[in-house]
Amino acid sequence: MDRITIITPDDWHLHVRDGDALATVVPHSAAQFARAIIMPNLQPPIVNTELAQNYRDRILAALPGHSAFEPLMTLYLTDNTPAQEIQRAMSSGIVYAVKYYPAGATTNSDSGVTDIHKCFDTLEAMSEAGLPLLIHGEVTDPSVDVFDREQTFIERELVELVARFPKLKIVMEHITTSNAVAFVRNAPANVAATITAHHLLLNRNAIFQGGIRPHHYCLPVLKREEHRRALVTAAASGNPKFFLGTDSAPHERGTKENDCGCAGVYTAHAALALYAEVFDAAGALDKLEGFACHHGADFYGLPRNKESITLERSRTPVPASFPYGKGTLVPLRAGASVAWRLSGNLI
Ligand code: DOR
Ligand code: ZN
Repeated sequence: MDRITIITPDDWHLHVRDGDALATVVPHSAAQFARAIIMPNLQPPIVNTELAQNYRDRILAALPGHSAFEPLMTLYLTDNTPAQEIQRAMSSGIVYAVKYYPAGATTNSDSGVTDIHKCFDTLEAMSEAGLPLLIHGEVTDPSVDVFDREQTFIERELVELVARFPKLKIVMEHITTSNAVAFVRNAPANVAATITAHHLLLNRNAIFQGGIRPHHYCLPVLKREEHRRALVTAAASGNPKFFLGTDSAPHERGTKENDCGCAGVYTAHAALALYAEVFDAAGALDKLEGFACHHGADFYGLPRNKESITLERSRTPVPASFPYGKGTLVPLRAGASVAWRLSGNLI
């Protein structure tokens, strides 16, 4: 198969930042996706509906004129998010989920949750309203090995949450291990997971390939090859619990190439092509549409998109960098290439 036409996909986990950054990254996503779940970890974070509304307006203002791209906004859960905020979020019609960052787990998570039990009233309100909880599933306990933090989170927190809130829609974001795949597969239908392109393409050797590679550093950190394979099997299985979420996370070059570099891999410039490579290598291109276009919308209870896009097998160069505010942004595959392109669209 050298061409594949699928319904326009959605990205169920995306960072677009704010200010000047929007002009670079929003058009990349809008060229491939109809909708995207927008992460709220700005500085300061998007902790209420009014902030989400204003942030949404700024994203829309960064879209190319013809684009119908729809940002699906999220709220950043804190120890103090009032249960009433869920009602405001629902009435606004622009908030589609709430994000749970354990405090200190990752980029701009300082205002995150110190103890999820403090949020149980709010989670109850979300459960009743049908508003999904998106989880960065890693413990922050410094005594836990960085490669084990996802698995430990499942054992210490997720098992309890899933049992305590049987109706709450829960998305375990950017899963990275066979443990997470098994947990989600065996959990009830209200529990799902997103999978990034970079965790499907790379294992942890990529961080140390001939030297330290800061542009391959993300959180949760890349894992062993056996885990990457488990993710590919899950994504290509056709199981509706698994769907596309790029976690494309732009950082200015100097903040990655740094003695304390930021976590995040930028993939929005070629996201669909990267996923197509994975599904092609797995002999499962026929499963790409379910993963990228159906499963996420169905889980969120949103209509599937109506338009379609065509991908064609065609080696396409990736720029060494993009302008990014006053600096530059180094994408995945910088200066190299991807094996697919959107037909009629230069990405
Ligand atoms: O690699 C990551 N980057 N993981 C996250 O959880 C946050 C993200 C970011 O915002 O840069
Ligand atoms: Zn993220």
